[in-house]
Amino acid sequence: MAEQKRKPVKITETILRDAHQSLIATRMTTEQMLPIIDKMDKVGYNAVECWGGATFDASLRFLKEDPWDRLRKLKAGFKNTKLQMLFRGQNILGYRPYADDVVEYFVQKSIANGIDIIRIFDCLNDLRNLQTAVTATNKEKGHAQVALSYTLGDAYTLEYWTDMAKKIEEMGANSICIKDMAGLLTPYKAEELVKSLKSATTLPIELHTHYTSGVASMTYLKAVEAGCDIIDTAMSPFALGTSQPATEVMAEAFRGTDMDPEFDQMLLKEIADYFRPMREEALKSGLLNPKVLGVDIQTLLYQVPGGMLSNMVSQLKEQNAEDKYMDVLEEIPRVRKDLGEPPLVTPSSQIVGTQAVFNVLMGERYKVATKETKDVLLGKYGQTVKPFNPEVIDKVLGDEKKNAITCRYADLLEPELHKIEAEMKQWKQQDEDVLSYALFPQVATEFFKYREAQQTKVDAAVADTKNGAYPV
Ligand code: CO
Repeated sequence: MAEQKRKPVKITETILRDAHQSLIATRMTTEQMLPIIDKMDKVGYNAVECWGGATFDASLRFLKEDPWDRLRKLKAGFKNTKLQMLFRGQNILGYRPYADDVVEYFVQKSIANGIDIIRIFDCLNDLRNLQTAVTATNKEKGHAQVALSYTLGDAYTLEYWTDMAKKIEEMGANSICIKDMAGLLTPYKAEELVKSLKSATTLPIELHTHYTSGVASMTYLKAVEAGCDIIDTAMSPFALGTSQPATEVMAEAFRGTDMDPEFDQMLLKEIADYFRPMREEALKSGLLNPKVLGVDIQTLLYQVPGGMLSNMVSQLKEQNAEDKYMDVLEEIPRVRKDLGEPPLVTPSSQIVGTQAVFNVLMGERYKVATKETKDVLLGKYGQTVKPFNPEVIDKVLGDEKKNAITCRYADLLEPELHKIEAEMKQWKQQDEDVLSYALFPQVATEFFKYREAQQTKVDAAVADTKNGAYPV
């Protein structure tokens, strides 16, 4: 039988977002990015993922950088390459559901400042939580990509995924991403899934996975052979481990076939040479823990994303309870089942993980329930694929159970943008500041204070120079 002719695979580069989020706690600065983007712009990437996810929070909180300023600088440098961001549906880049007016305004400003492709996902795969962002992206003439949060479990059959894909096409998305945040998708499962999605929809399919469990590059190979249009990779200094497969390796793997992306390896080498000292530095300082670079087979056994494991370890450390690691690891799938078997991705991963830690440390399950666990059970995060455990509902909610909702939570929220703007007025230097504050009120306020202090310093220095305080 003649081989069917395949198309060159497209590649999305993640080093400016997911790769450093996964390996070095999102600490790459704008200053570290800018010198190399001219070369990155020449590679021929499908897109560069460079914004959203945890980068927004980390910029404000740890780097004392304005994330909007970063986006504008990246846009100025990437003249030929599309910029992509990761967007948590109704939670935007934060950890709670926002009213529609905030979601719409955030999409509008993201695109106005330089984003071309918005990858939108919901931690429960509740499509109602994606519609506002998708519609807003269409309206702003951006590319709306809807991501399926990939996970395993009884409910997650091929029919479930193909049915989702059809609905995603109907809701106005421009492409679909299989978002495998934990590295659970194995090569032959990927082949099967991509083929099913391809037969269910005409939309391009992108695959996003992590190397955590060690199968990722094989998974990409089988997926691309099965017709997957785009894969996500990271330049080698920040690839593998809890990050993505390496860009250079995947490009070379398809060399000489119909699927060859025809990347220039010499150019890729120059880019890798630029990032390598950053990796060495991070290893030396401890920011990059060699532990996250290895194969973690527990992720296949417990279906826990790599980032969630490191969070859990630090929570246990704080409580001097590192010896409870295995107990918590075994408690996670039980809590996940109690809460309707959701995928484990921000914020559901934190909610399930934290509750599992409480259940183990308290010695009694749900003796203490977090506010977020309550909100999940009240339906505020949306609909889960399976029902909640009724015993857990009774124990955690008690009488409050009558307040549980089945509608889309955001339908109950009044527009909140004006109220937020009034609250933060004294700090506002640009429209986008309102959104930074909306997402992270305390962190943004700290940043605004820092920014003003810096500006005062600069003003004072300028005044001093004028007064002849500095030798001329
Ligand atoms: Co990822």
